[in-house]
Amino acid sequence: MVNDRNPILVALDVGTAEEAVRLAKLLNAYVGGFKVGLELLMGPGPGVVAAIAALGKPVFADAKLHDIPSTVARAARQLSRLGARWVTVHTSGGGRMLNAAAEGLEEGAAGRPSGLLAVTVLTSMTGDDLTETGVSGSPGRQTARLAKLAAGAGCEGVVCAPTELGVIAQVAPELLKVTPGIRPPAFAGDDQRRIASPAEAMERGADYLVIGRPILGAADPAAAARSILASLA
Ligand code: C5P
Repeated sequence: MVNDRNPILVALDVGTAEEAVRLAKLLNAYVGGFKVGLELLMGPGPGVVAAIAALGKPVFADAKLHDIPSTVARAARQLSRLGARWVTVHTSGGGRMLNAAAEGLEEGAAGRPSGLLAVTVLTSMTGDDLTETGVSGSPGRQTARLAKLAAGAGCEGVVCAPTELGVIAQVAPELLKVTPGIRPPAFAGDDQRRIASPAEAMERGADYLVIGRPILGAADPAAAARSILASLA
């Protein structure tokens, strides 16, 4: 999908609020938003969401919530009160949990744009891992099933691997597709396996690209973000 917004969401995978804010300020002009993940949420705490949101770009709180509906609704409400534009939930918590989370999120956002992003099958899981948890069927089939559930239960989008963009577009074309596992050509894959280049992921229909190490690990993170953006033009 070609769009006129900057699709890069930088994963601020660092341990302190100071480092997260320093990096966000450095990158603010070259990216479309920021992802605050479990390391920051569990360390310095959810206040980091507010500190980053104050810079003016959308913040994606990757909290991967999964609990009973009322608890998830309250947690989502807290995160959107702090300024999170998106919050992640595990789709496997079921439709009632997703609907409750969406309501809590909307309440906390008090009129600001907000939305749930559904995690379908973790990209680290294989078919054997799914079987171990009692789920039959391949990761692709399970992803399709969960994406349909997410679309019908108040979610704005999904977080999916670049290799799943096609299946999501088929079963739930209305969902926003946010994609990690992005590696510029010639960049080492690290522990990511189902990867694509930024341009490939956009061609396959991603709406946003979650990018961590290719930017944060570069000698000049701002230059790395600029060059990724240029590769999408
Ligand atoms: O450094 P890298 O670009 O691999 O970072 C990708 C980010 O996206 C990390 O914060 C990682 O936790 C997150 N993520 C992922 N795969 C998922 C969901 C989230 O890599 N399925």
